[in-house]
Amino acid sequence: MTLWQGRFAADADGMADEVARLTVSIGFDKELASDDIAASLAHVRGLGKAGILTDEEVAALLDAVERVGMELASGSFVFSLSDEDVHTAVERRATELAGELGAKLHTGRSRNDQVATDLRLWCRRSLLQVAADVVALQDVLLRRAREAGDAYLPGYTHLQRAQPVLLAHHLLAHGWALARDVDRLIATVERLDVSPLGAGALAGSSLPLDPDFVAEELGFSARFENSLDAVSDRDFVAEALFDLALLGVHLSRMGEEIVLWSSEEWGFCALDDAYATGSSMLPQKKNPDVAELARGKSGRLIGHLTGMLATLKALPLAYNRDLQEDKEPLFDAVAQVRAILPALAGLYGTVEWDHDRMQAAADGPASAAVDLAEMLVGDGMPFRRAHALVAGLVRDSLARHVPLSELVQAHPDLGDAAARLLEPGVAVTRRTTPGAAGPAAVAAQVERFVRRLDVDRSRITLHGAETVQPGSAGASPDR
Ligand code: ARG
Repeated sequence: MTLWQGRFAADADGMADEVARLTVSIGFDKELASDDIAASLAHVRGLGKAGILTDEEVAALLDAVERVGMELASGSFVFSLSDEDVHTAVERRATELAGELGAKLHTGRSRNDQVATDLRLWCRRSLLQVAADVVALQDVLLRRAREAGDAYLPGYTHLQRAQPVLLAHHLLAHGWALARDVDRLIATVERLDVSPLGAGALAGSSLPLDPDFVAEELGFSARFENSLDAVSDRDFVAEALFDLALLGVHLSRMGEEIVLWSSEEWGFCALDDAYATGSSMLPQKKNPDVAELARGKSGRLIGHLTGMLATLKALPLAYNRDLQEDKEPLFDAVAQVRAILPALAGLYGTVEWDHDRMQAAADGPASAAVDLAEMLVGDGMPFRRAHALVAGLVRDSLARHVPLSELVQAHPDLGDAAARLLEPGVAVTRRTTPGAAGPAAVAAQVERFVRRLDVDRSRITLHGAETVQPGSAGASPDR
């Protein structure tokens, strides 16, 4: 039995099978079960406070809804073929348990405000879990950055070797991008923290309901301002999907780098066996599938965002069934990101860097070219002239196959001190400005990153999520 059968002819055959197949959402919206229970409990208390239910009725209905919740949680709940969605399923079962009284549960409520409430509760919890997973990955990057010490590698622009940078600096670059993701997730949670319950189907109620009361019961900071907006607003879903898509893009870039670095051509790292995969045909292969999936899934996450925006763009106020399309992309985006994050944390936590290969690549003869120019600037030469002078030496060295250091040594404006800048490992130590890639600047950066992680950890906990303890994520390399 649907919840709305009364409107239709008593002798009708009921919904056509193909309509049921098209409209049914229980297959995925049962993900909202615990939130639907929470929202239903708050609603029952609200009906009691409004004097619509007696104290005894409130107690009996709360008991029935709680029992439904326990059945759902333990897996003993039996879904019926006619359970169109999770809201129907919960009400149907509560009515089976509470008898007559069950018929009062939906008083003053619509599935429109109910589903909006459930989804906000789900989002709040899930986005905080994602944020905690991100912090766990940042923790791994921090550990690896500390372990990397003064190891350095080429920094690239245009994928051409540009200037040497500390490996720690490179790892923390990803860490700071993830910090913005955490910030965005928390901001989205703060903005979605508004209860739609009490908006009814679209216009509120003639019954003396108190939306502020149920908002507080559910731990929301505020109630809706406008009932039409309350039931049709899915900005929070679009925002969540954007946060997850951009996070996915960051994870994709991290994955891409591992794909490159673990190739024989680069040889900057070797994957731990537990975080690599083999080939069914080629016996010698060890493949970076984790990194590739981190890269590949970003396409799907971007698709979920654009799909959601397209669904929303022409909807007239207020609720439209199109909105049912919000759940699958959202649930999938969270599930995919939560699958990638720990796997990538494990990969980054265990990957073995080849410092020698990295350093050999970074110690290319021209990697300190700008340091030569800056030395000349220190002696008073305008930078544009210094740049041209050094570029000329680099060109000469390549054309005549003479080591750059020899030309530098022999040049009247440069000489021995300048040639020493070209020695392995020297250039990176000269990146000394705040936020720069050299050892002293990176040591200061590490301290700031540690503080940022602490702040973000407490922000996540403040909003009610369990966070990871520092250092608890990602297997250690000597595992
Ligand atoms: N399954 C629906 C959804 O996800 C629940 C709300 C249905 N409301 C309605 N008036 N048909 O949006």
